[in-house]
Amino acid sequence: METAIERVLLTEEEIKKRIKEIAYEIKKDFPKGDIILIGVLKGSVMFVADLMRALDFNVTMDFMAVSSYGNSSETSGIVRILKDLDFDIEGKDVIIVEDIIDTGTTLKYLYEYLKARNPKTLKICCLLDKPERRKVNIEADYVGFKIPDAFVVGYGLDYAEKFRNLPYVGILKEDIYKK
Ligand code: IMP
Repeated sequence: METAIERVLLTEEEIKKRIKEIAYEIKKDFPKGDIILIGVLKGSVMFVADLMRALDFNVTMDFMAVSSYGNSSETSGIVRILKDLDFDIEGKDVIIVEDIIDTGTTLKYLYEYLKARNPKTLKICCLLDKPERRKVNIEADYVGFKIPDAFVVGYGLDYAEKFRNLPYVGILKEDIYKK
């Protein structure tokens, strides 16, 4: 598994430290808590779990699943809802938690979709952001790290469902996905 990695971009320690800082920013914005974190499956699973533990107030979680890249490393631009929310978000403080913003297509769609359900506030938190790749106009309110245009895996992020369990974020060797 490790031999497929070109180099480590973010270590486990760097990620842990940054999540604490993001939790602090969220606590400043919502001092009373009572927020809903909506994780986007499956890439955000590790991030939601760690972020939730760093928030020492009332917080609930829900998940949505949308279609993404499949086995290729390029986005199709088509977003399909595979799993919707379990809870009503009307009048609630909601934060969408995403692993990475690449072209922004997925998040833009999700944002509009959830906004239509009338939450009190709707914010976006993403661990990684590749600004160079953006095709639609969307920005996160909380960003873990801005990263260069490279295909990364680990800490929840996959290539063809593999590498999600790496504790760090690493750049995948090109020959793995250009085969
Ligand atoms: P977007 O709609 O182009 O912004 O793509 C967002 C989704 O694509 C993310 O939630 C990931 O699932 C996937 N993705 C984008 N870039 C990467 C990457 O570098 N590694 C793994 N998955 C990625």
